[in-house]
Amino acid sequence: MRDVTAMTYRLSPSLLSADFAHLADEMARVGAADWIHVDVMDGHFVPNLTVGPPVVRRLARAAPKPLDVHLMVERPSRLLDDFLSADPGVLTLHVESDAPDVLKASLREIRARGARSGITLRPGTDVEALAPYLPLCDLVLVMSVEPGFGGQSFLPGAPDRIRAVRRMLDRCRPSCELEVDGGLTLDNLPLAAEAGANVFVVGHAIFGAPDVPARTELFLRRLAALAGETS
Ligand code: DX5
Ligand code: ZN
Repeated sequence: MRDVTAMTYRLSPSLLSADFAHLADEMARVGAADWIHVDVMDGHFVPNLTVGPPVVRRLARAAPKPLDVHLMVERPSRLLDDFLSADPGVLTLHVESDAPDVLKASLREIRARGARSGITLRPGTDVEALAPYLPLCDLVLVMSVEPGFGGQSFLPGAPDRIRAVRRMLDRCRPSCELEVDGGLTLDNLPLAAEAGANVFVVGHAIFGAPDVPARTELFLRRLAALAGETS
């Protein structure tokens, strides 16, 4: 049985909805959160392009909190060393993005370099595809939108997928973090938490707010209340 009291709820605001001309200021505005989520997109794995290793390295130096880097790129092993040199808190790879043996080696390398190793999957990929990687992972990310863009709606099938992953983790990796990413709002946060997630990526619902620090605090208070309910 999972000890819910041991799970720490974390907030990871996504810079994808921030003002890219002022990223250091934007990170400072969400500095009360636990991690800062950076979406790396290559225009191939997803139909959008964002930032690469040089920008992530500079962000890491300016960040008030550890970076939670989500790689949406083809064959991330090619770029692994570059991203690890930014010293991220978390580095997450997609199961669909590299050959299984290469992915396993990458996850081992992430851990060896002192970061949390993360694995994720598209909403259409069977959650069983995660199984071979779980012993090598510190975090599983369940996408609750199709990866590629911010500001989309939370997919109704996401809570069942979170529940299924939580069951897998309870069997073999109970201390593994379970993150959810896409379409989260103050309203559907409890749904994701009840399903078993403990790390919450929030883009538009934070950076689209008129007062970003106040909205960050509101999310943190909501998570503290949810943690109180489950303990
Ligand atoms: C989508 C990204 C998400 C995105 C979430 O591909 O992985 O991190 O920024 O943003 P919202 O919360 O706006 O859906
Ligand atoms: Zn993301």
